[in-house]
Amino acid sequence: MFLKRLGPQLGRPTRSVAGWLTSKILTRRNRVLEENAVKLCGISPDDSVLELGHGPGVGLEAAARLLSGPKGKLLGIDYSEYMHQIASKRMQELITSGKVTLYHCDVASMPIAESSVDRVFHCNCYYFWPDLKKGTLEINRVMRTGYPTWYTWHLKTFLLGRAGVLKSIWRPYGPRDSQM
Ligand SMILES: C[S@@+](CC[C@H](N)C(=O)[O-])C[C@H]1O[C@@H](n2cnc3c(N)ncnc32)[C@H](O)[C@@H]1O
Repeated sequence: MFLKRLGPQLGRPTRSVAGWLTSKILTRRNRVLEENAVKLCGISPDDSVLELGHGPGVGLEAAARLLSGPKGKLLGIDYSEYMHQIASKRMQELITSGKVTLYHCDVASMPIAESSVDRVFHCNCYYFWPDLKKGTLEINRVMRTGYPTWYTWHLKTFLLGRAGVLKSIWRPYGPRDSQM
């Protein structure tokens, strides 16, 4: 019962009791994954870095600490309005100074210039994207060529998805008509 109510919130948390609880769980449980994704990126101080599906913003905080150069810039996107608001609050100071920009949008359509991003990472996220192919093409569009995208995830979420708890929001291979 608890998992059935909370499961769908993982894919797009809403402003609600279940959404609030989900946000608390993500902040606590996924810190290690977010911080390791940031480490894997090998961020340099003047890089332009993008996090997809940032949720409450724990990974944004870790990445921002490394972008100490004058050109260093951090971007984040999330299509949950609630997560966008929570992360915006968390990163408020750096948003005001222009170091960080957060967009409330889908990964399939990002208001980010072509070939402008050096590093991309995401955690516990891609299997919720409504269209995996569009998302992947969009990442490819915004990235400068030659850099990998880093991705970390909880094995347990996969098990929940396979067990049917996440229902229709579980799309680890994308919709049938968008398979690559
Ligand atoms: C399980 S949460 C993970 C949040 C955070 N990365 C973490 O590991 O704690 C998945 C996040 O991805 C976002 N998300 C899912 N699909 C998305 C899409 N197509 N475009 C943008 N954000 C998306 C959700 O709104 C949610 O905040």
